[in-house]
Amino acid sequence: MTDAFFTLHADVPREGPGDAGSLHWALELAEVKPDARILDAGCGPGADIADLLVAAPQGHVTAIEAHAPFVDRINAAWAEDTRVTAQVGDMARPGGPYDLIWCAGALYFLGITEGLTTWRDALAPGGVVAFSELVMLGDNPAAPVMAFKNEYPAFAGIETLKARIEAAGYDLLGLQVLSDAAWEAYFGPLDARIAALRPGADDALTAVLDEQANEAAVWRAHRDQFGYALVVVRPR
Ligand SMILES: C[S@@+](CC[C@H](N)C(=O)[O-])C[C@H]1O[C@@H](n2cnc3c(N)ncnc32)[C@H](O)[C@@H]1O
Repeated sequence: MTDAFFTLHADVPREGPGDAGSLHWALELAEVKPDARILDAGCGPGADIADLLVAAPQGHVTAIEAHAPFVDRINAAWAEDTRVTAQVGDMARPGGPYDLIWCAGALYFLGITEGLTTWRDALAPGGVVAFSELVMLGDNPAAPVMAFKNEYPAFAGIETLKARIEAAGYDLLGLQVLSDAAWEAYFGPLDARIAALRPGADDALTAVLDEQANEAAVWRAHRDQFGYALVVVRPR
């Protein structure tokens, strides 16, 4: 990702769709205990950490993220709270053991089957993974939706996602498609940031702003054809 990409994303609260309601649905399904050891894998700027700690108030969140400025933001925000440890790292080598691995919109970097297989060793006995993933909805997506495959060749439907989970030897405990509100929690702040950055943007930044604006426009025009599936899974 380029400097221009991170200029756009520097101050936004989250890097993909998500909200408190769906997170708590997942953590209830996962039967997360108040003292749970949680990994927030590919945590971005840490949008979900506060809600993870609502579910596990005596627990601990290890937040692992490849992009150092996001980690700096989390460490600044949680400096006074020993329940949070944020570190620059690779979520493919997450340490552990964890009672819950939470991964909002980042597992695709490892591959669903590959990532879940890797995380088996990082889970405590009875541990659970909750992750969200872009999915195709319906059988006949419009061209701008199919174009996601250019950037993300693994883009596929819910049955394929289930097959990838099965291939890793995990049971599916539950699945929900995230609400429009969860998408707006992502796009709303980005819309405002795009508007603020447009005046005076150089060519590289303008290209990034256009690309991001197009992503939001495609979602608003075709949101019945793709979504984010939030799934809760446990290794057999
Ligand atoms: C789509 S963003 C989601 C961020 C955050 N979970 C959220 O919902 O706001 C995916 C994040 O995963 C991070 N990432 C990608 N590969 C990674 C890896 N191997 N280890 C750690 N973080 C990674 C990216 O830097 C990015 O911040």
